[in-house]
Amino acid sequence: MVFYVKQGKVPESRHTYDDKNSLRREELFGEESFDGPYSLLYHLQEPTRVRSFSVEDKVREEIDDEPYSHRHLRTSSLPRYGDIVDGKQTILKNDRVKVQIFKPERKSMHFYRNALCDMLLFVHEGNGKVISVMGNLEFNQGDYIYMPKGLTFTMDYSEGSYFLIFQSRDDITLPRRYLNTYGQIKEGSPYYSRDFIIPTLPPPREEKGNFRVYVEFENKYVIEERDFSPLDVEGWDGYLYPFCINVEKMAPIVGKIHMPPPVHETFSSSSMMVGTFLPRKFDFHPKSIPISYYHNNIDVDEFLFYSSGNFMSRKGIESGSATLHVRGIIHGPQPGAIEGAIGKESTDEIAIMIETYDHLYLTDLGKKIEDPEYATSWYQ
Ligand SMILES: [Fe+2]
Repeated sequence: MVFYVKQGKVPESRHTYDDKNSLRREELFGEESFDGPYSLLYHLQEPTRVRSFSVEDKVREEIDDEPYSHRHLRTSSLPRYGDIVDGKQTILKNDRVKVQIFKPERKSMHFYRNALCDMLLFVHEGNGKVISVMGNLEFNQGDYIYMPKGLTFTMDYSEGSYFLIFQSRDDITLPRRYLNTYGQIKEGSPYYSRDFIIPTLPPPREEKGNFRVYVEFENKYVIEERDFSPLDVEGWDGYLYPFCINVEKMAPIVGKIHMPPPVHETFSSSSMMVGTFLPRKFDFHPKSIPISYYHNNIDVDEFLFYSSGNFMSRKGIESGSATLHVRGIIHGPQPGAIEGAIGKESTDEIAIMIETYDHLYLTDLGKKIEDPEYATSWYQ
């Protein structure tokens, strides 16, 4: 939900028709039942027209509930796997949030719909296009792609594409403190409405054939077989739709002395905050220490994905590394990092953070790519 959008042809008033001989089928696409953000979509065919349903089991994501410890996962060592339906590899999770790596090995052949979670994809490498019932959305390296739960889509992506994905049961929105009373993005926020890219709706497809939609639940897919293209929307309007925003467009908030993580906040939900560490000038106090405090993360688990640049506070970190710093156990700059940071004027790092309000657990897959030395890497 960012601002009001209208695409294609919509009737003059909602829940009315323009021509009785060519009725459009009006779908209310909304979150939080009928109370949350929503859009109205106008289909050529009834969107309920499903020839058959079947159910398929998903591979279960087992978790490792060993005692807590800081973790370093090398996601670059995960293999390429699957497509948008089955290729999202979960490395950390709790009941509300999943952290996944998506390195597709094949083109997405079918449509996909997430029944439970909003999705936020970060494009670590590659580019491509989301093809959704609300239109096409082109994306590039450094983009966040927001996909609301319940939206039917598929994806084209370049060879070698590599995504970080957060799935959240709770709606992912812009942080409330960036919005004024009227819902407009305030001055002083790290982005502006103009920076968001919205889908472009092509003419509706009147295409008959065999179309399959995989609807993802926790442990199962429900598979819809349809005889008419789901891309049959002639127009839509409203406040709920997918969008992209590139980190290059964002304006980091900097200060005279070290600014804490909330200034890097980009998106939020009631189960997590999402932050972006952007290339930026460092603090301008003549004796500033431009690096984080030692800290204990009371009330949150902190996940960081290192996308590009020079990650000066961490040893052994590479592009594609992910760290989990758990609550209750102190962490901070590694030995020598403070001395190395003093006098530095800027950073070129891009890193993606989430802080979750419930514990994040390592999955069996996450365990396989763990650097076992990390928890004691502060000891020298
Ligand atoms: Fe931290």
